[in-house]
Amino acid sequence: MELVVHDSPTGVARAVSSSVSHMINEAAYAGEHTFSLGLAGGSTPEATYRELAATSTEWRKVTAWLADERWVPPDSPRSNGLMAEQSLFAHVPGKLVRPEYSNDMAPEQSAAAYGRLLRDIHLDSPPDVILLGLGNDGHTASLFPGSSALDETRHRYVSNVIPKTGEVRLTATYPLLNTARRILFLVVGEAKAAALEASMAGETPAGRVGGSETKVEWHVDRDAASRLS
Ligand code: 6PG
Repeated sequence: MELVVHDSPTGVARAVSSSVSHMINEAAYAGEHTFSLGLAGGSTPEATYRELAATSTEWRKVTAWLADERWVPPDSPRSNGLMAEQSLFAHVPGKLVRPEYSNDMAPEQSAAAYGRLLRDIHLDSPPDVILLGLGNDGHTASLFPGSSALDETRHRYVSNVIPKTGEVRLTATYPLLNTARRILFLVVGEAKAAALEASMAGETPAGRVGGSETKVEWHVDRDAASRLS
């Protein structure tokens, strides 16, 4: 695990976008067939996606997918997929695969279908990079404290209910996240300081991410790191 403290949220966005761009280009030049990029949701990664859209990157080899999604229509302003489309994939020739949504579909069905799609994407190789955020309560993707998805040991993608609000989410599980080659956490702001401190001690859902082969990097700003000694 590596922790990198940047001066500002912009510093986090620039560092992560250039690191991801570099990894994609390196894989492209090495002739690798597909680069699998898992995307974080929420508000923090949007600046990184806008930075990434401005880089010179071999997007044709990239298949991106969502580490989690809210159970909302695809054009909802709360959709992580819509945010990733508008801030990045509307501007670059890469592929973004989003979970299905319809009024007469159960979230479990959508999660299972997306899980199968992700299984097929990773038949020959694991995810190259997954970007993740951190909630004030220590959740990441939609793996919330006290939620059933934390105990999932088989399925790669499931629907999950946020215990506090009853809201339904779709989320990657540890069985998928922990197969990744690299995981980059993006964390900014003082409001995340307590959750970051607890995550460094492995006491949160986010702090439990990372398999034996996974390189985990935390890219945080000074405010988020304010409780770390
Ligand atoms: C989501 C996310 C979630 C997010 C954290 C942090 O759908 O909300 O995927 O895990 O990363 O809640 O969110 P902010 O970046 O908005 O603080």
